[in-house]
Amino acid sequence: MRGIKTICVCGAGTMGSGIAQVCAQAGFQTIQFDVNEAMLSKSKALIKMNLLILSEKDKIGIAEKDAIIERIVFTNNIQICRADLIIEAIIENKEAKINLFNQLAAINNSETIFASNTSSISIHSIANEIKYSQQVVGMHFFNPAPLMKLVEVIKTETTNNEVIELIVAVCKEMNKTAVICKDVPGFIVNRVARHYYLEAMKLIELGFATIETVDAIMQATGFKMGPFKLMDLIGLDINYSVSKIVWNNLGKPERLKPSIIQQQKVDANELGRKTGKGFHQY
Ligand SMILES: NC(=O)c1ccc[n+]([C@@H]2O[C@H](COP(=O)([O-])OP(=O)(O)OC[C@H]3O[C@@H](n4cnc5c(N)ncnc54)[C@H](O)[C@@H]3O)[C@@H](O)[C@H]2O)c1
Repeated sequence: MRGIKTICVCGAGTMGSGIAQVCAQAGFQTIQFDVNEAMLSKSKALIKMNLLILSEKDKIGIAEKDAIIERIVFTNNIQICRADLIIEAIIENKEAKINLFNQLAAINNSETIFASNTSSISIHSIANEIKYSQQVVGMHFFNPAPLMKLVEVIKTETTNNEVIELIVAVCKEMNKTAVICKDVPGFIVNRVARHYYLEAMKLIELGFATIETVDAIMQATGFKMGPFKLMDLIGLDINYSVSKIVWNNLGKPERLKPSIIQQQKVDANELGRKTGKGFHQY
């Protein structure tokens, strides 16, 4: 694609790993950067396994499988993170994201696009602190990134129109559906979905139902996953941070108040699938 050849995905966790796979599968030279070597190894193993499953199902050929993995450089050296597009998927913390983008701005140039996969942090508040603020955009993938079609593309008052056009074209190249969203708390999906999680946790807190019942009933009504299974997949730390940020940014309305039982899970490091225990056991 014209303009975007190399993509650097920062963070090799739940989302970063999936996004790196999506980038490489779409034919982009991909750099996967993480400060934690163990996460890089885990991500590489997971991507290899996902590609093997695809080849066993005849969705990709053996040669293609090998070519995709070869397109990804896994690194903990930020100095090699030079790319046309940077997609950050690190922890849900504004200062950490700003700090990372500023380090990357110092070794990239004014043409580089800085996309954040944040679920809840205002893109404007990040862009405001970055040298190339007109190049900053939200690119919100969903979990698991290789399977979920939707990408929310978040435009701020300062985002260059050409940047939006390029990101929409990149999404198309990745076989994703891009929806342009306003930079408002929770964007669209996370704003609507907050109630799915919060009301479910309220039922448990009040002793009105069990986790198993709520999950089973919601799944039976047609949702792919019940709220507790979904929170375990997302990561309770991430989901709790998103709830806090959306709640704060909307002026702390009672209806969106973060859940005490979720906070307790996070404090106990029971973060869901990634730690082997959350609302359910893995
Ligand atoms: N989990 C989800 O379902 C989901 C969905 C959509 C968007 N998001 C967003 O994606 C982002 C990442 O979420 P996740 O669930 O993948 O988190 P995660 O905890 O699974 O992974 C975060 C990774 O970032 C790495 N990291 C931390 N600081 C770093 C730095 N300064 N430089 C490089 N790497 C660093 C960590 O080592 C870790 O591997 C968050 O902003 C989150 O809101 C998450």
